Amino acid sequence: MSAPAFTRSATRAALRAAAQASKPQLRSLSLLAARNVVRAAAPAAPRFAAPASVRGYKTLDFAGTKEKVYSRDEYPLEQLHEYFKNDTFALLGYGSQGHGQGLNLRDNGLNVIVGVRKDGESWRQAIEDGWVPGKNLFSVEEAATKGTILMNLLSDAAQSTTWPELSKFVVKGKTLYFSHGFSCVFHKETGVIPPKDVDVILAAPKGSGRTVRTLFKEGRGINSSVAVFQDVTGEALNRAVNIAMAVGSGYVYETTFEKEVYSDLYGERGVLMGGIQGMFKAQYEVLRKNGHSPSEAFNETCEEALMSLFPLIGEHGMDYMYKACSTTARRGALDWAPEFEKANLPVFERLYESVRNGTETRRALEFGNRKDYREQYDKETDAIADQEMWRVGHVVRALRPDRAGKAL
Ligand SMILES: NC(=O)c1ccc[n+]([C@@H]2O[C@H](COP(=O)([O-])OP(=O)(O)OC[C@H]3O[C@@H](n4cnc5c(N)ncnc54)[C@H](OP(=O)(O)O)[C@@H]3O)[C@@H](O)[C@H]2O)c1
Repeated sequence: MSAPAFTRSATRAALRAAAQASKPQLRSLSLLAARNVVRAAAPAAPRFAAPASVRGYKTLDFAGTKEKVYSRDEYPLEQLHEYFKNDTFALLGYGSQGHGQGLNLRDNGLNVIVGVRKDGESWRQAIEDGWVPGKNLFSVEEAATKGTILMNLLSDAAQSTTWPELSKFVVKGKTLYFSHGFSCVFHKETGVIPPKDVDVILAAPKGSGRTVRTLFKEGRGINSSVAVFQDVTGEALNRAVNIAMAVGSGYVYETTFEKEVYSDLYGERGVLMGGIQGMFKAQYEVLRKNGHSPSEAFNETCEEALMSLFPLIGEHGMDYMYKACSTTARRGALDWAPEFEKANLPVFERLYESVRNGTETRRALEFGNRKDYREQYDKETDAIADQEMWRVGHVVRALRPDRAGKAL
């Protein structure tokens, strides 16, 4: 590893400067980032004066690379109301993102309607969340007719199958919005080719739609990326950033549709979901084969990670977590981390290529378009729940003092 860019005292000074410069909403970002991130000596971010021409951003140094960051304190609610005063957000689809983004828009006082297929699971869920048929809950087609910002939050597979019908509503003057680069980037596979006379943008929250909602309710905000696929009005990027703020983002960084979809598909198949399950399972299996009890194997693999060590990484970084552990633990972890890196590198390279060449997209579309895709997904995730490791997890979680005595 290269030497740290800052000395301890410089880091502390950066932390203090970031804390002072930050408004409350930004503070956690600044504190987290300040070890390697120093606010560049860029001019103070402009305050909003006229919505159409505003760019409220900061340039931050991400370990040597300067990037623009848009933060929510530069996008106050009154400003969003003014910016979107002539718009109707039409949420097409009400899955995890539809739920989170839709309720946040509604709570933010913006004009939002939902479009889903009638009498499906999402229709039922939307009614449960207070959307009213005929008032702000419609069929996909009706909502797409009424909306000015068409938020395509159908499943990625459904975005492809519904496109021949939906594209009729994507007409000049409307904005086409996604939360993923999937459909546009892999247009050969999806068939989604937007008309040339509309802005096409994305805001992609970096987390589940449930987290989009819970962080918003806690007064915090999810990190999101924004990108422009097509800019016919000259306003596409600004619009994407404003929408990202309106749906509850805390801070926003810029990307492209292509980079968003590659990194997203790669990340979720890797460390975020596929990789973590694979690592947990392999470690657990070896412990069990060597005679360790289920509770010991689970505690040494999952419980300690999730309850003690990973939160420390999240709050303060990997070095902090290492320092919080014993010298014995630290020696072993420092020695073995490069081994894991070496072993995993070829897998990650193969995975990235599988994303880039469209293999992952074709697989997701093929599976997502099966009639019984929900049941099939349930079958496979139920099989994970049925693995000994996660059945043990139920028992261990129920033993946590805050849950003691509650049902397993
Ligand atoms: N979930 C996340 O964590 C996350 C994070 C960032 C970005 N995204 C992106 O956000 C978008 C939405 O994802 P999501 O997870 O919220 O939703 P999802 O669960 O993938 O999709 C759910 C929606 O699609 C509808 N749908 C499925 N097949 C349909 C069909 N043939 N015709 C009409 N509607 C159909 C469902 O309606 P029914 O209930 O009627 O079936 C439901 O409203 C995707 O582009 C995704 O990649 C997701």
